[in-house]
Amino acid sequence: MEFANVVRRRRMVRDYDPDRPVPTEVRERLLEHAIRAPSAGFSQGWAFLVLETAEERARFWQATTGEGPPDPWLTRMSRAPLLIVPLSNKSAYLDRYAEPDKGWTDRDEARWPVPYWDIDAGMASLLMLLTAVDEGLGACFFGIPPERIEAFRATFGVPAEFRPVGCLSVGYPGDGDRRSPSLQRGRRPVEEVVHRGNW
Ligand SMILES: Cc1cc2nc3c(=O)[nH]c(=O)nc-3n(C[C@H](O)[C@H](O)[C@H](O)COP(=O)(O)O)c2cc1C
Repeated sequence: MEFANVVRRRRMVRDYDPDRPVPTEVRERLLEHAIRAPSAGFSQGWAFLVLETAEERARFWQATTGEGPPDPWLTRMSRAPLLIVPLSNKSAYLDRYAEPDKGWTDRDEARWPVPYWDIDAGMASLLMLLTAVDEGLGACFFGIPPERIEAFRATFGVPAEFRPVGCLSVGYPGDGDRRSPSLQRGRRPVEEVVHRGNW
């Protein structure tokens, strides 16, 4: 697919065909593209937890959502045959930037203009979202509630220094998809958000 079309067609998909698994080669392409993302100091302090079997996915939803019957969002999202959790590791960046070519040996977080560890995991996530479109699949990036992160870590044995920046659901779109009500806000036009030469 033309790159411009991939970008234009990308949208979050929130319902999936549960009977169509993600082909193995597509799953691997998502992950191979994820690691092509740029990273500060080439730190690559990311990790990706891949959950594919029904049991693995059920454990994810159990750990990250509340008790009681699933709401319509969860009902549709939990049909996704593949979940990929991108995680960031701040300490990998502090270590990398303490190396001689960077020299931030004090590991002072005040040096960081923004959390590059999360940015890099986000960049990898966007590459996976775009790759899904290029492969004719749908995907959605969504958040894991902060109060659920410990349960998520415990469920999957994730080391304490890794923090999920969100999760991607991936699969062939289902026919009950609902666009986000947030889209009613409308896309802010270029001229409203771009400041040329001066603010
Ligand atoms: C950081 C981030 C967090 C998001 N969290 C959620 C979420 O928790 N649940 C959800 O359904 N969509 C989530 N979204 C998707 C947005 O709602 C969506 O990107 C936005 O409404 C624009 O729609 P589009 O991506 O389909 O163009 C998230 C997107 C981003 C970038």
